[in-house]
Amino acid sequence: MFTEEQVPELLAQLTLEEKCSLLSGSDFWHTQPIERLEIPALMVSDGPHGLRKQAEGADDMGLEESVPATCFPTAAALASTWDAALLGEVGRALAEEAKTQGVGVILGPGVNLKRSPLCGRNFEYFSEDPFLAGELAAALVSGIESEGVGTSLKHFAANNQETDRMRINARIDERTLREMYLSIFERIIEKARPATLMCSYNRINNTYSSENHWLLTEVLRDEWGFDGLVMTDWGAVHDRAAGVAAGLDLEMPSSRGWNDQLVAEAVRVGALAESDLDRVVTRVLQLVARYHREMQQTSADSFDPDAHHELACRVATRSAVLLKNEDTALPLLELDDVVVIGEMARTPRYQGAGSSQVNPTRLDSALNVLRRRYPGSPFEPGYPLPGSPVADSPAEHLLRKAQSAASCRTVLLFLGLPAEDESEGYDRQHISLPANHVALLHAVRRTADTVIVLLSNGAAVETASWEADADAILELWLGGQGCSEAVARLVTGEESPSGRLAETIPVKLEQHPSQLNFPGEAGEVRYGEGIFVGYRGLQQLGNQPSYPFGHGLTYTTFEFSDLQAELATITDGMSPGDTVLTTRFAVTNTGDRSGVAVPQLYLGYPDSTVVRPLRELRGFRRVELEPGETTDVEVQVSRRELSFWDVHTHSWRMEPGRLRIEIGVSVEDIKLCIEKELSAPPLLPPLTEWSTVTEWKRRPAAWEKLRPFLASFGKESEFFLLDLPVCKLPLMFEDTLTFDQLAELLVEVGTTPYPTSTL
Ligand code: BGC
Repeated sequence: MFTEEQVPELLAQLTLEEKCSLLSGSDFWHTQPIERLEIPALMVSDGPHGLRKQAEGADDMGLEESVPATCFPTAAALASTWDAALLGEVGRALAEEAKTQGVGVILGPGVNLKRSPLCGRNFEYFSEDPFLAGELAAALVSGIESEGVGTSLKHFAANNQETDRMRINARIDERTLREMYLSIFERIIEKARPATLMCSYNRINNTYSSENHWLLTEVLRDEWGFDGLVMTDWGAVHDRAAGVAAGLDLEMPSSRGWNDQLVAEAVRVGALAESDLDRVVTRVLQLVARYHREMQQTSADSFDPDAHHELACRVATRSAVLLKNEDTALPLLELDDVVVIGEMARTPRYQGAGSSQVNPTRLDSALNVLRRRYPGSPFEPGYPLPGSPVADSPAEHLLRKAQSAASCRTVLLFLGLPAEDESEGYDRQHISLPANHVALLHAVRRTADTVIVLLSNGAAVETASWEADADAILELWLGGQGCSEAVARLVTGEESPSGRLAETIPVKLEQHPSQLNFPGEAGEVRYGEGIFVGYRGLQQLGNQPSYPFGHGLTYTTFEFSDLQAELATITDGMSPGDTVLTTRFAVTNTGDRSGVAVPQLYLGYPDSTVVRPLRELRGFRRVELEPGETTDVEVQVSRRELSFWDVHTHSWRMEPGRLRIEIGVSVEDIKLCIEKELSAPPLLPPLTEWSTVTEWKRRPAAWEKLRPFLASFGKESEFFLLDLPVCKLPLMFEDTLTFDQLAELLVEVGTTPYPTSTL
């Protein structure tokens, strides 16, 4: 086996054909081995929340048979923990299982922004907020990589829908792309250095990600300093030689030698430089050297399935979000008057479909887990569910039996989305629960004392049309193999809910900013809402959601006080990572149970010259407090977090003015607020002949020179002048200044000479 240092030596011994053979997989899950030079095959495998290693002899796709692995909650649930340390633990556990199976690189996590609640893969993605998604996914990646297993951050980039995912052209403006869609990847690369990235199927502004030089080389490597490998999503290659030149390293899975030959031919005829090929082959060999070596050292490792199951239960417990809890319906003090209703209590919905589907090491139903605590709990399925014992039973009959069982009791009502409602490969058409689930809720409400709804779904479902019938709602997401144990721990109060929403639950789909442009048409989707994704857009439009981003109740109450903020003076010499804002505040548990507060730091810029959201998440903490306990919390913010992407200079910029600093328990529920004056160099776009009079006014030296020419305009006509590009003055008002005077002026103040051709 060779080392990373030996890669140049090895490269020199490879023939052109051998080099090209390394550019694609040998099958679905391995890189190409070369026996002559003892280059082994490296195994990669899906597994963003549990390993999906294809079992020996299983079908090519490996969708049906994979080796048993711990099924952790899916990313939507992981993100609801707001708990980076816990995600690090999950990452280490995933890596242990990968090592046991000889897998060198885990294909995940998926970190695409939840642009629309309809995206079929939202259950596999973290959040509608790039800061939260980036922070949490970085912790997961660090956890995996810390154990010597590689990750593949996916899908780079703008894979925010399943509709036409292999061809769709995502039209996104520069600022939106940088601030919302690329920044997640950038943050994770900086914080966690993933071994690989997986490029997306789609096109971005006309160019397929797999051959996008700007994306894969200029941004990813030149700007962000990524030194790992880029592989394709499965089958995402269009023009392989163009991909090599653009910075795409590995094609997956095998294209049966076809594309390798095309690359060899391109080199032979001089259409592709051999140095481009060598650069790509070097990266493939480095990956094999690094991660295959790790596998050899640790292949004897095994993992403890019980410990991993317990971790899965702990994470599922922390993922659940208590949306509503009228009259302290939860926790249940007694279990003896409880009836369990809903087939999902017996047939759990705990993971999504597609490439992330795991074969769990064990799986229990909430019904069984509850009955272990209280053996007598009665149960009624209430609705048919495909694949369940009552799949073919008449719905009306099930509903009536459930209604009568609910009479004068506390009902634990399990509702959610059936598996076929959300999956990789297609988007959702609506965000409603199935009609028979809602009908069951209404029926049960008529007879029951208390109704506690437990939801299992991978992405937001609307609650507005039915929630009046629920005393409490606990959103479990797709909680993995520990989801049933989590239910028991939470409803009995053994543990308190601590999850917070990482995505908005809108009143209805039509409130959502992406709705005008999703999923596009004629092969193209326009990201028309720009930076106003998720809560940013809802707030801008004045749309109150049912449950806002960041929301989550628990069994105690908190008070927040004493917000202080120190703001550094910003200078041009500061680097993006320098801390510029330090906030401190106190949190007190004012209830009589221990619990977890998740204070969230939001920033806003009332004086901004560019459009900015009302508030954006820029920090959060997870604080565990005993009853009566107070703690001080500090959150620091770097220069980069205060910046926006400036399209004039194509860089991250800040500007002076008021900074609104808020501490909230959700984006709609702000508990503390102060404003500070941010002192920073003014943000001035370069002066050109097309700069307006206002823009000249912002530069005192230039304005002093222009002002005399405008003396003939009175105050009353100033409004007209302000927005006028100066090059229009000689044209429209000959007696102000002549073309020659303007040309001189432009030279004097340091703009480019006046090109008459632009008129
Ligand atoms: C998915 C990827 C996955 C790959 C391999 C693709 O269809 O988009 O997320 O890693 O298949 O299973």
